Amino acid sequence: MTNPSPAPAACVFDAYGTLLDVNAAARAVSGELGERWKDFSALWRQKQLEYTWLRGLMDRHADFWTVTGEALDHADKAMEMGITPDLRERLMTLYMTLEAYGEVAEVLGKLKAQGVPLAILSNGTPRMLDTAARHADIRDLLDHVLSVEEVAVYKPHPSVYQLAQDRLRVPRERILFLSSNGWDIAGAASFGFATAWINRFGKVRENLSHGPIHELPDLTSVPALVQVIRS
Ligand code: LAC
Repeated sequence: MTNPSPAPAACVFDAYGTLLDVNAAARAVSGELGERWKDFSALWRQKQLEYTWLRGLMDRHADFWTVTGEALDHADKAMEMGITPDLRERLMTLYMTLEAYGEVAEVLGKLKAQGVPLAILSNGTPRMLDTAARHADIRDLLDHVLSVEEVAVYKPHPSVYQLAQDRLRVPRERILFLSSNGWDIAGAASFGFATAWINRFGKVRENLSHGPIHELPDLTSVPALVQVIRS
C-alpha cells in the first residue's frame, strides 16, 4: 500500500468532538432538559464554536470556559429551555469532565506502544484539558497537552498550529493532526500538517482551500494507519 503522506513523527489530536464527547454533558441531564436535549446540545456547541471564531476576528479573546458558558446561556435563551442556576452549574461541571469516546484510551495506548509521541492541541483551557484527560484516564499517555491560551487566539489561527510545531520540534508535514471538525482540519492542512479527518458525525467535506489527507469514521484504525505510513 502506498501513501502520499510522510511518516508521522507525532500525532496531535483535537479534543472536543474528537477525543471528548461534546454531547455527554447534556446527555447526562437529558431527563431534566427534556426531549429537546439533543438540539440544545447542538446549539450550545455551534454557538461555542461561532463565538471562538468571532472573538478571534474581533480580537477580543476570552478563554474557552467563559465562551462555553456564554454559549450555554445563549442556547438556553434562544430555545427557552428555562435552565435553572443549579442545572447550569451542573452542566458546566459536567463539561469539565466530558467522557471520552469509547475507543480513545485503547487507540492512544496502542500509538504510545508504537513509540509515537502524542499531544492534544485544543481550544480548551489548560485546566479543562488536564481535568478531562485525567478523568478519561489518558493523561499519562500524552506527551503534551497544549491549550490555545498560550497564544490567546482560537483555531484555526495559524499561531495555534505553530504552537504544536514549536513544542514537538518536528517538521510540520511530519505531524499527523486528527480532528472531527472539518474546519479545524482545513486550518491544520493550510498550516502544513498532515491531516486525518475523523468523520464521527457522517458530515460532508467542507469546501475550503485545504482538506484532509485521510478520512476515517473514528479513531480505531489510526494505529494501523500510522504503522503503514511509517513502514
Ligand atoms: C477543540 C475544539 C475545536 O478542542 O473542539 O479545539
